[in-house]
Amino acid sequence: MTETEALRERALTTLITARDRTTLLTSCVEDPDLTAQHSPLMSPLVWDLAHIGNQEEQWLLRAVAGREAMRPEIDGLYDAFEHPRSERPSLPLLPPAEARLYAAEVRGRVLDLLESTAFGGSRLTEAGFAFGMIAQHEQQHDETMLITHQLRTGPQALTAPDPEPAPLLTGPAEVLVPGGPFTMGTSTEPWALDNERPAHRREVAAFHIDTTPVSNGAYQAFIEDGGYDNERWWDPAGWAHIRQHSIHAPLFWQRDGKQWLRRRFGVTEVVPVDEPVVHVSWYEADAYARWAGRRLPTEAEWEKAARHDPAGDRSMRYPWGDADPASEHANLGQRHLRPAPVGSYPEGESPLGVRQLIGDVWEWTSSDFLPYPGFVAFPYKEYSEVFFGPEYKVLRGGSFAVDAVACRGTFRNWDYPIRRQIFSGFRTARSEAV
Ligand code: AVJ
Ligand code: FE
Repeated sequence: MTETEALRERALTTLITARDRTTLLTSCVEDPDLTAQHSPLMSPLVWDLAHIGNQEEQWLLRAVAGREAMRPEIDGLYDAFEHPRSERPSLPLLPPAEARLYAAEVRGRVLDLLESTAFGGSRLTEAGFAFGMIAQHEQQHDETMLITHQLRTGPQALTAPDPEPAPLLTGPAEVLVPGGPFTMGTSTEPWALDNERPAHRREVAAFHIDTTPVSNGAYQAFIEDGGYDNERWWDPAGWAHIRQHSIHAPLFWQRDGKQWLRRRFGVTEVVPVDEPVVHVSWYEADAYARWAGRRLPTEAEWEKAARHDPAGDRSMRYPWGDADPASEHANLGQRHLRPAPVGSYPEGESPLGVRQLIGDVWEWTSSDFLPYPGFVAFPYKEYSEVFFGPEYKVLRGGSFAVDAVACRGTFRNWDYPIRRQIFSGFRTARSEAV
């Protein structure tokens, strides 16, 4: 197979995988559930569907292939910056059947384009970047749509097999990551997005990091110890927020006598103590860490734990090495609709033995979302640049809900510190005593 054929195949496979997931997420409920707004934090599912098609049209058909707009009058409706999510249900959106048809028409033309495209000549097409970017964009919205499904009340619409029980964890609860420089970010990963670039050296002092994400059981100990009633554990803004909104537990939890229940995709269950805690805000993660006598890792610490190979002094693509994620490495791609128990995926562990860095739950870091030295916005400022600053905190590692194409050791996600409808958890760290 020539390099061009290999790129074409990868572009095709990732686009098809994304569309299969989109189709499932938008066909498992009836039209009223597609047009309804299930939470003011989210778009109606039918907005995501047409927005996916519109981004694909703009970047692959217009920017790459130089075609005219198919329906210029709808561009504004699906511009995320023109209309905040809360406004989207009142827009004259394409109804479900039309949105499906539009996305399918765009896709048909893209598949034709893919047959003849040369993958080169511009930064946008080099190594198939634009196709990879669009596959990642669709998968990011597939995660967004899964969040909407989780917020939706009503009977179960989606099912998936549960992950395997975790093997017995016999190793230490934390590992020491030695101090020294490492290479953060990437200049070589072809489909890495602008905020992951460029690769640069970072000095990171020695620190300890949890072997696994924090579990529901551990988090329950924080709750039972009165963690939500004790101001001393909380960032002042977080304390004000949980008081104002009467927050006493992760989102979707409710107390039932001595136990905790939670609703997941339309089914109520007892909170499983051995699963990573999910649906916590940055403030909750930060407070738990302080209560535990620890802290959140910085973004650089997280990436060093995930990518640094102490044997070779180089940064790997993933904790397990350079191979693309496979099902034995990590819980990704909505194969399961929940995180796997803590200690799962021994084959995905880092050289130092840190597990589940990739997949399961997004992990809050202590860091603000900032550009790397030498950052250049590409191909548009509204992907990353407009979000840089202290209002957003960085999350790393991906969740069970994101596909491998949109998840790497260098991949950066961000959100407001109060947000918890996302599939967010965390692990803790502490500085090495000197
Ligand atoms: C990277 C997840 C914060 O959903 O706002 C989707 C991804 N950007 N469409 C978001 C994104 C444009 C983005 N996050
Ligand atoms: Fe988008």
